[in-house]
Amino acid sequence: MPVLNSIEDLRQEARRRVPRAIFDYADRGSYDEVTFNRNLADLAALEFRQRVMVDVSKQQLSTTVLGEEWSIPCGIGPTGLTGLFHANGEMLGARAAQEFGVPFCLSTMSICSIEDVRSAVQKPFWFQVYLMRDRGFNVELLERAKAANCSAIMLTVDMPVQGLRRRDPKNGLSIPPKLTLHNLFEVAMRPTWALKVLTGRRRSFGNLEARMKGTGGLKTLSEWIAQQFDATVTWKDLAWLREQWPRKIIIKGILDPDDARLAVEHGVDAMVVLNHGGRQLDGARSTISALPGVVDAVEGRADILFDGGVRSGQDVLKALALGAKGCLIGKAFLYALAARGEAGVSLALDIIRKELAVSLALTGANDVRSVTRDILVTR
Ligand code: GLV
Repeated sequence: MPVLNSIEDLRQEARRRVPRAIFDYADRGSYDEVTFNRNLADLAALEFRQRVMVDVSKQQLSTTVLGEEWSIPCGIGPTGLTGLFHANGEMLGARAAQEFGVPFCLSTMSICSIEDVRSAVQKPFWFQVYLMRDRGFNVELLERAKAANCSAIMLTVDMPVQGLRRRDPKNGLSIPPKLTLHNLFEVAMRPTWALKVLTGRRRSFGNLEARMKGTGGLKTLSEWIAQQFDATVTWKDLAWLREQWPRKIIIKGILDPDDARLAVEHGVDAMVVLNHGGRQLDGARSTISALPGVVDAVEGRADILFDGGVRSGQDVLKALALGAKGCLIGKAFLYALAARGEAGVSLALDIIRKELAVSLALTGANDVRSVTRDILVTR
C-alpha cells in the first residue's frame, strides 16, 4: 500500500482507481482552463511570514460558521456525480464529514438521493440547489431537504448556462456510465470500481429520477442543465426562495464585490466565494485574488466561505488570513473518495487539519478564528 499523505497523493490514487471520463470530470476546468489554473497558481504564490519565538503550544483549530461548530475551518462543498467516484459516495462523504465534525453539502446533481444521505447521518447536512424553470420542482426538492433535516441550502448562482469542459464529450461521459468499446479497456482495468459502481443500487441522479423519466436521449449533465436550469434568474428570485426556505441560505458563486454587496442586501446568511472551480467563466479571476474585495464589500454582514483551489491546510490558512471564515473542498474531496472511500475522505480532512496546525504554529499564530492578513507577506 502506498503512503498517502497529501491531496496530490489522493489525486494520483484516484486517477488509478476510476475510469478517465469520471476522473477528468472532476479534475479539469472549462475551455482553456486559464481560470482553473489561476486558482491554484495564485494560492501557491501567496507567501507566509515565518515568525519565531512565539508560544504556539496551545492551538485553536475549531470555529463557528453559520452558528454551527466546525472542528476545523474546512468542510465539504457540493460536487455533481459524487456517487460515480465511489459507490454510495455521497453517503460516505456525509458520514466522514459528520465524524470529523465539519459540514457536508449534497449536490442536486448527486447520485445518492437526499433521503439516502439522510439515512446515513444523524446530524443536519446542507443541500445545494439551482433555480429550475419548473419552480414546482424546486419546491419539491426544498420540501425533501426540509424533511431530511437540512440546516441550510446553498444556491448556486454562477451557472445560468454551463461552460464547456472540453474533455467530457471527448471522453464520452454519460450518466449512468455505460460500457462502450471506447471505454471498455478503462473500465476493465478498474475492476473494483466497476463491480461496486456499475452494480450498485444507484448509477444515475438520485434526486432527479422522476424528472428524468421520459426525457429519452437526455444522458449528460450539460443536456440536463440546458433543458432544466432557469437562465432568467435575478436577485428578485431570492425573495421567492426565502419564502420557501425559512432556514439558512448560502449563495455560491460570488466573485465580484458588487455582487457580494447585492447578496447581503438581499439577505443571504453566507456566501461562497467561487468561480465554480474554474469550470464556468474561463478568464475570470482566481478565487483567492477575489476574496479580499468580497470581504471588504461584505463588512462582516454575512459569513464568507472560500472554495476553489483548496488542496492543503496551507491553502485554508491563506484564505482565513484574507478574511474567509471557513473553506470548502470539492475536487480534493472527490479525489479522496475515489482513492479510498469513506476512509479516504477522513484522511483528506486529517491531512488538511495537520497541515493547518503546523502552518498556523510556524506563522506564530494560535487561533484560526483570529488570523489576519498580517501573517502574509505584503509587497
Ligand atoms: C456542476 O456543478 C459541475 O460543475 O459540473
